Amino acid sequence: MSTPPNPIHFYDEGERLPDILPNSPFPLFQAWFDQAMGERLTPNANSMSLATTHADGHPDARIVLCKSIDPDAGSVMFYTNYTGLKGHQLTNSPQVAAVIHWDHYERQVRIRGQVVKATPEQSDAYFASRALESRLGAWISDQSKPIESREALLEKAVEVIDQLGIDAADLMSGKDIHIPRPPHWGGYHLHAHTLELWVAGTGRIHDRARWTRALQIESDQVSVGDWSSTRLQP
Ligand SMILES: Cc1cc2nc3c(=O)[nH]c(=O)nc-3n(C[C@H](O)[C@H](O)[C@H](O)COP(=O)(O)O)c2cc1C
Repeated sequence: MSTPPNPIHFYDEGERLPDILPNSPFPLFQAWFDQAMGERLTPNANSMSLATTHADGHPDARIVLCKSIDPDAGSVMFYTNYTGLKGHQLTNSPQVAAVIHWDHYERQVRIRGQVVKATPEQSDAYFASRALESRLGAWISDQSKPIESREALLEKAVEVIDQLGIDAADLMSGKDIHIPRPPHWGGYHLHAHTLELWVAGTGRIHDRARWTRALQIESDQVSVGDWSSTRLQP
């Protein structure tokens, strides 16, 4: 007897999430991240939209770079200025949402959770690995504060370089110069309590699954429960 043709065969094309959802979404998230970062089909393959809550209670969002993933902790890391607008918003309300979209792979990762500041040692280590211009930039910019003109910003850059005792000739020569991390700049761990993986499907019959777990953070001490998962309609 011949097998009858599958009338909805087109929905089986393309990528799918595993039929049996894994206990944690993080190994698959990490594999997607590693692939995107390895293949670099876009220059900022680790771009992540980060949504915070403003003091007026309304949402705010901007892009930051997701610098690493810790599958064991169930967290991701980004770096920023602690005293800029998002820094203040995160101090007042550490509950955030984040989204990474990889258009070339037709994948999306949504995260909800809570941020905790990285340790000074973690921030120092990452800061030291940054390009010289970026390390200087962290000193120059009072992130999110007004400045009268671009020219004034560049004048400020010259002043800051002088205040840091950096020799202009050394700067021009391209020699590596030690620049300490500004105390107002560092990392955040975003610990997830909810994570959704999404892959595009034909005819908008996408494949989605959401994992949730208990997350409690008190005085930077993080405690979590086991993940539970469910598939979602697109
Ligand atoms: C591709 C891209 C990557 C960015 N990465 C970061 C980042 O890792 N950290 C950061 O503080 N700002 C980053 N920015 C700038 C932010 O989007 C934002 O302008 C800045 O952090 C100020 O936001 P705030 O005023 O809400 O604090 C990035 C912007 C783009 C477009």
